[in-house]
Amino acid sequence: TADEQVVVAIDGPSGSGKSSVSRAVATRLEVGYLDTGAMYRALTWWCLERGLDLSDQDAVAVASRELPLVMSHDPQAPAITVDGTAVDLAIRETRISEAVSAVATNLAVRADMKQRQRALIGEIASATGGVVAEGRDITTVVAPDADVRILLTASEAARLARRSKELHGSDDDSSLERTREQVVARDAKDSTVSQFSVAADGVVTVDTSDLDFEQSVQAVLDVVRAGVRAG
Ligand code: DC
Repeated sequence: TADEQVVVAIDGPSGSGKSSVSRAVATRLEVGYLDTGAMYRALTWWCLERGLDLSDQDAVAVASRELPLVMSHDPQAPAITVDGTAVDLAIRETRISEAVSAVATNLAVRADMKQRQRALIGEIASATGGVVAEGRDITTVVAPDADVRILLTASEAARLARRSKELHGSDDDSSLERTREQVVARDAKDSTVSQFSVAADGVVTVDTSDLDFEQSVQAVLDVVRAGVRAG
């Protein structure tokens, strides 16, 4: 029944640990996982594959509605296919990271993705008894009525150091500088349509600046347990 299912919505800026923490939390809770950013990335991949001009808002909106997307909800192996092709690795390529903002700022695309994401959250929760869904507007737009809503944050310095290690394998000065340019530019583009660095009403902030990975997972699990008891 609905009150045994727990829906956890997690958003936050890049470098907050959002994806890895969300997956670990879903694993510990033994529920499914939904990466909404992967959906925008998959759409971007498909548009490029078909040679669409990403600035053609109408064409991209049509592609969004037609996107033959299948997402597995296993937090240990979140597989994603488009028209039968596995795109898990391709959607993480730099060319996609650089192009995805053009797709994610398309308001017709966002409206379509919101519907898809709401449907997926319902399906996954029914199948597995709950869901941890992550993404920039998940706590505010997609699932404002989730049982638990969390904004995962970290100081700019901590986020930059983590991203630098991911992208360049190091957090020395030159890697940090290159990362700063990439991250600041992308967050600035994204913030024109989705707000994600300030917690909305009822959203609990978890600051991971001084937490390692396991501590971050535990901090989120604490909020989930407290939220489920209170709800
Ligand atoms: O979290 P990520 O890097 O995979 O997100 C990819 C892009 O999609 C990024 O530009 C943020 C955007 N996004 C969004 O606008 N709304 C979401 N719910 C998830 C991601």
